[in-house]
Amino acid sequence: MEKLVIHGGNRLCGEVEISGAKNAAVAIIPATLLAQDVCRIENIPNISDVTCMIRILNQMGAQVKYINKHTLEINTKTVNSYIIPHEMTKQLRASYYLIGALLGRYCRAKVALPGGCNFGVRPIDLHIRGFELLGAKTTVENAMINASADHLTGSAIYMDKVSVGATINIMLAAVKARGLTIIENAAKEPHIVDLANFLNAMGADVRGAGTDVIKIRGVSQMHGCTYSIIPDQIEAGTYMVAAAATAGDVLVKNVIPKHLESITAKLIEAGCTITEYDDAVRVQSDGNFKKFNIKTMPHPGFPTDMQPQMATLLTVAKGTSIVSEGVWDNRFKYIDQFIRMGANVQVDGTIAVFEGVQELTGAPVRADDLRAGAAMIIAGLMARGTTEIEDIIYIDRGYENFVEKFRELGADIYRKEFDDNDRKTVSAG
Ligand code: EPZ
Repeated sequence: MEKLVIHGGNRLCGEVEISGAKNAAVAIIPATLLAQDVCRIENIPNISDVTCMIRILNQMGAQVKYINKHTLEINTKTVNSYIIPHEMTKQLRASYYLIGALLGRYCRAKVALPGGCNFGVRPIDLHIRGFELLGAKTTVENAMINASADHLTGSAIYMDKVSVGATINIMLAAVKARGLTIIENAAKEPHIVDLANFLNAMGADVRGAGTDVIKIRGVSQMHGCTYSIIPDQIEAGTYMVAAAATAGDVLVKNVIPKHLESITAKLIEAGCTITEYDDAVRVQSDGNFKKFNIKTMPHPGFPTDMQPQMATLLTVAKGTSIVSEGVWDNRFKYIDQFIRMGANVQVDGTIAVFEGVQELTGAPVRADDLRAGAAMIIAGLMARGTTEIEDIIYIDRGYENFVEKFRELGADIYRKEFDDNDRKTVSAG
């Protein structure tokens, strides 16, 4: 087993290069099933969620070739099955995008229910309703989703809730359906726009992505293409907050500043200095933070995937700050880990109230999920003393080379092997 060891107190200074967006990559890779042709995808992040998705496509019979660490060529011509068993889908929540992609390709899909981060109920009723409105019959048996149709027909689909995953899955199923599909109350995240641009590069007809009405006119054929994935908005935001938390001065490169607007606004409210360039943002801070509130919302609101990271600043901000989680029903598990480091936080359902303390102190903690893990790194960087973080496998799911990137910026952070038995004594303690 591996854990992270962080000796806190170093200011982060210098430059960091942001990788391709995880939540775009895990949608674009299954979308290649829609074109029985070669797709060349660039700026792929080198993270375990992407490796998982590629492994699934390989096991389905696709030919996947790494041109270099960040460029793939995927040929799905040789895929010959619409069945995805549990052992392939359990490691990755985004595996459910294979349902939409297989429906688009075969009008059939039999896919095991997904795994992934666990912070509350994660239903897929909106996905299933979308497939049924397109004409698919769906059943759930033995934890497998069965969806099938003679053919798919375009439909008007109003989303009862804004859902990134359901919007993506319906887009994947609708691009080859007969006629016009209109998705209303659609998600508007940057990775939704990135997927739409990829689908259109393959010959689809998707308009309005990035607004709350997406119109898709079905096409009969799609072809291969070459496409470069957008930079990761959440990875960029994570390094921006880490720079602020350590009273640092960091240039975060290879970003789209427009995607970072809500994060930039919060850091300025906290008292940081932000300088925007065409494809970079500079974050400077003296390490003193004014209190501020966070309310997470679907894009363009403050992203829920930045909530734990930004909340680290509130542990030492002067006064009382409130975090309201507007997307997930239980995304505060990480607060217990903050409290182990001396934070003063009260949680009540989807609200957390932070009373700023003088400083955090290092402690043995764990990563409860991907973004909670990123928050624990930031807390460890700003704490006095040593922090050890277990369950860092979650962090490897979404942050390419994060130890090297943080060390480049001056962090005293390294991976350490430890015996699983030690872990049992710690968790039993
Ligand atoms: C995506 O999850 C992201 N994952 C999540 O990021 C992110 O937190 C979330 O969108 C919100 O931005 C990927 O893109 C792989 P949703 P998703 O459907 O699609 C409810 C990360 O850290 N809902 O937008 O699963 C749901 O319970 C991960 O990168 C239904 O009720 O999220 C939630 O309350 C963590 N029925 C809300 O909608 C459904 O059928 C938003 O969920 C689907 C969702």
